[in-house]
Amino acid sequence: MEARARGAASLAVEDLTAGYGGVRALNSVTITASGASITAVLGANGAGKTTLLRAISGMVRPRSGRILLDGADQAGRSPEDMARAGIAHVPEGQGVIAELTVEENLRLGTMSWPGMARRRSDRTAALAEAYERFGVLADRRRKLAATLSGGERQMLVIARALIARPRVLLLDEPSLGLAPKIMAQVMDMVVRLSRESGITVVLVEQNARAALAIADHGVVLNLGRVVAAADANTLAADVALRHHYLGF
Ligand SMILES: Nc1ncnc2c1ncn2[C@@H]1O[C@H](COP(=O)(O)OP(=O)(O)OP(=O)(O)O)[C@@H](O)[C@H]1O
Ligand SMILES: [Mg+2]
Repeated sequence: MEARARGAASLAVEDLTAGYGGVRALNSVTITASGASITAVLGANGAGKTTLLRAISGMVRPRSGRILLDGADQAGRSPEDMARAGIAHVPEGQGVIAELTVEENLRLGTMSWPGMARRRSDRTAALAEAYERFGVLADRRRKLAATLSGGERQMLVIARALIARPRVLLLDEPSLGLAPKIMAQVMDMVVRLSRESGITVVLVEQNARAALAIADHGVVLNLGRVVAAADANTLAADVALRHHYLGF
């Protein structure tokens, strides 16, 4: 595939305020994530976690603040621009197309490429890379996505997002609804994406314990504000924080 900048990313959200109509979902939120790392974004229902990811990927327009990618402010740019800049967003809820095969779902991932990179050989290489990374998908490539288990579907949506070769991967509750064993497999995959592929992962999770177990850093949101930001071990050891905001 066409050579693209694949170096380590540096993401800095500064003083971000965003919302929906009269609802202010994020209030002066600052987070940073860079290089081969996992940053967990935690907090109760309605804390603003999804809105933060939507703002970073251009789906929600910030009212104020900055979204710096490698030092350049991207706030207010379109989702297409953000994708082109190297940010991939996997929304909550396993959005595979059940009536299509695994491979057809993966091919959809190539649609987001800028025109230059849509050569057949590039697509073939990207699919091969996805199958190498996700053996379970290789085995099922001709099967309808409808026949996949919840964990396999989650692997498929992540694999589809990776087809665009992002440097920043935003994951919204990838463990939601999965059995503990399957959830552990998804978490292992997330670790490999950061450690082995150098992707900067921002991981939104309700399951704070599981997320902090694999994350390098964590940010806790409450009612749209950052109430704690520290390395993952520090957050996991903070009994009061766990009790008040993290539910474990
Ligand atoms: N499309 C929308 N229109 C209006 N308000 C919204 C919309 N989406 C979210 N909100 C509100 O914005 C706030 C933050 O919601 P958000 O979805 O970002 O929270 P969350 O932390 O992802 O919650 P959850 O854990 O339930 O997914 C909430 O008060 C929510 O009701
Ligand atoms: Mg959410």
